[in-house]
Amino acid sequence: MATVLRLINRSKIGTAMGQQYLTFSSAAKAGAKACQGLPEKVKIVEVGPRDGLQNEKTIVPTETKIHLIDLLSESGLPVIEATSFVSPKWVPQMADQVEVMKGIVRKPGVSYPVLTPNLKGFHAAVKAGAAEVAIFGAASELFSKKNINCTVEESLHRFDEVMKAAKEAGVPVRGYVSCVLGCPYEGKVAPEKVAHVAKRLYAMGCYEISLGDTIGVGTPGSMTQMLTAVTKEVPVSALAVHCHDTYGQALANILVALQMGISVVDSSVAGLGGCPYAQGASGNVATEDVVYMLHGLGIQTGVDLSKVISAGAFICRSLNRKTSSKVAQATCKL
Ligand code: HMG
Ligand code: MG
Repeated sequence: MATVLRLINRSKIGTAMGQQYLTFSSAAKAGAKACQGLPEKVKIVEVGPRDGLQNEKTIVPTETKIHLIDLLSESGLPVIEATSFVSPKWVPQMADQVEVMKGIVRKPGVSYPVLTPNLKGFHAAVKAGAAEVAIFGAASELFSKKNINCTVEESLHRFDEVMKAAKEAGVPVRGYVSCVLGCPYEGKVAPEKVAHVAKRLYAMGCYEISLGDTIGVGTPGSMTQMLTAVTKEVPVSALAVHCHDTYGQALANILVALQMGISVVDSSVAGLGGCPYAQGASGNVATEDVVYMLHGLGIQTGVDLSKVISAGAFICRSLNRKTSSKVAQATCKL
């Protein structure tokens, strides 16, 4: 009994201490920013409901997905990628995309983009009420074939069709480039190849290009090399980074990207995620951990960290899973 009480008391102390670390003094903020010339503000693109859940083997109930998005909407996140309009034969977990789009409460000012690989997906997404879409290509031929069943060049042709339809409908389009720091099938990927695909997506009209380290193999060194190549072709203000955390490098890679002028970061609540066509890829960097780091650097996000931690606790309970967020673990919310 005494041991149990000691454990309860210790966990209470842990929670109180954890909460204390969720806020940062203005002096610390000023110091951190002055040191490193980082952006004032960062836009976080929450990809948990899509990238986080698409790889789950067991089908997650639609109501759970909707509740997760609604909780995230209340946390101040400006963008929440909601689902994918892809083939249900390829990604069964996203087969309820229409119900998800119809069920969520859309908070004014929050954007809910969805993935659309082709015109069929685009038309279905718009019909379901999507006001923003994302096309997703790759810097690796083999990954492109495995993920969307076409070559990189063919994918760009399909995306061009989506882009034309989107322009007519007034729908903004985000572009992804996968495998920017390595491919599960081809290994190393040349920074010039990434720059080429990013440039093509930008030239066709994507307002933002998200650079995906799909299998989380990058390091601050390879991130710097890749961004050096890409920023020669695409303005840094139109770039985002999308880091999976397989090798535990994601936060370091994001910090390097911020130092190079990038101010849009993709992340996934509770660090959920992985790509069904990238064996061994672990989750995206956890939103909680990114927000904690950014706030510690004095960078504004508009995000209420406690609310993201609560949303993470909800989805982990639903999936019967331990969070991958170090911050959530440290604050003993689970
Ligand atoms: P395909 O088989 O080559 O397509 O798939 P198809 O045009 O030959 O059509 C075959 C069947 O699919 C037909 O149905 C079509 O109607 C149907 P059937 O006649 O056999 O009944 N179909 C569709 N159904 C629903 N929605 C659609 C659609 N298009 C065709 N949009 C396709 C090509 C692209 C559709 C397929 O390969 C696919 O759905 N791939 C999805 C892959 C995916 O979602 N991957 C995960 C997301 S990417 C990612 O996670 C990386 C990222 O996070 C960044 C990073 O980390 O790097 C973004
Ligand atoms: Mg991803």
